Formats: sequence, structure tokens, C-alpha cells
Amino acid sequence: ASKNEDEYDFLFKIVLIGDSGVGKTNLLSRFTKNEFNMDSKPTIGVEFATKTVITENKYIKAQIWDTAGQEKYRAITNAYYRGAVGALTLYDITKQQTFDNVKKWLHELREYADANIICMLIGNKCDLQEMRQVKTEDAAKFAEENNLAFMETSAAQAINVDQAFQKLITEIY
Ligand code: GTP
Repeated sequence: ASKNEDEYDFLFKIVLIGDSGVGKTNLLSRFTKNEFNMDSKPTIGVEFATKTVITENKYIKAQIWDTAGQEKYRAITNAYYRGAVGALTLYDITKQQTFDNVKKWLHELREYADANIICMLIGNKCDLQEMRQVKTEDAAKFAEENNLAFMETSAAQAINVDQAFQKLITEIY
């Protein structure tokens, strides 16, 4: 069965969070447009993009929101989280600080988002193995303790990007 672009069974709002520079905008553009930008600028305010995926024979339109990691560029937090059913919390595997800050992002999520939101932890830039600062096993342990699914991705080399979104969407469904 095929459907028109505008037909879908469910609309899921998904938010991306994490420090500035971890790759939120590029993960989104890789997933929705198969595009990557080596020198993308920090996001100002909020952007979103959509993509429809099929899970268990249902057409799910994912409406994915991307905001600035930098405090000074962030839009009103309440509106960003309102109605979100899923969240990807990103860190950069080459920057320990971005992993340490995941706690802060999860805290914000708990404060503003619906209590039932499904959240997944994403270690992005896994193409940069030689610069790695965050061990996979440490992140996996943290994810388990916090009841989050976990995956390492590379927006640059398109590793696990579709899989991460697909996993989140399937979990939400
Ligand atoms: P803010 O908008 O400031 O919150 O940043 P962001 O999280 O959206 O990061 P963005 O997608 O703009 O990426 C920041 C930088 O990291 C850019 O230079 C990207 O090209 C680069 N980058 C993003 N993902 C990857 C990746 O998977 N691998 C590598 N090597 N670089 C990446």
C-alpha cells in the first residue's frame, strides 16, 4: 500500500536536545534530507522538519524539532516541549563535557515535557573514533541506569541515523 505524502496514521512530535555543536541539526538533515553540512552554524530559535516512516504497517509522520543548544539562542522552552512524545538527547563522543551535560538536559526534559515522553540517548560523531573521550560502555551503563535506549550515530557518515529515529518511533508506537 502506498499513500500520498500528506496521508498518515499518526503524527509524532519529537524534540532534539543537547549541547551546542553535538550535531542536532545535522542528525535531523541527514534523516530528513540525507544531507550533511561540515560547517553548519549554530541554530537560532527553533526549526523543524518532517519525515514519514512506516512502523508495524502504520504511516507515522515524525515532526522533528531542533533548537539551539546555546542558551542565548533558545526559544521559549515550554512551547518547544509541548506535545512532544519522543526526545533524542545528544552528546558528542569526542567531548566529555557534552556527555556530563546530558543530566542537565534530562532534568529540563522532566521539568517541561510530558511525563510519558520516550527518550533515547545518542552519542553522535562516532566516525571520529581517534578523538573519542566518552567510552561506549560508560554511556550504555548510564542509559541503562536511566532507562533510556542508547545508540551511537554519525550524521557525517550516515551511521545508525535512520536506525535511531526508527527505534525511537517504534518505542513511541
Ligand atoms: P547548535 O545548533 O548550536 O545547538 O548545534 P548542533 O547540535 O545543531 O550541531 P550542528 O549540527 O550544527 O553540528 C556542529 C558541528 O559538528 C558542524 O560542524 C557539523 O558539521 C559537525 N558534525 C555534526 N555531526 C557530525 C558527525 O556525525 N561527525 C562529524 N565528524 N562531525 C559532525
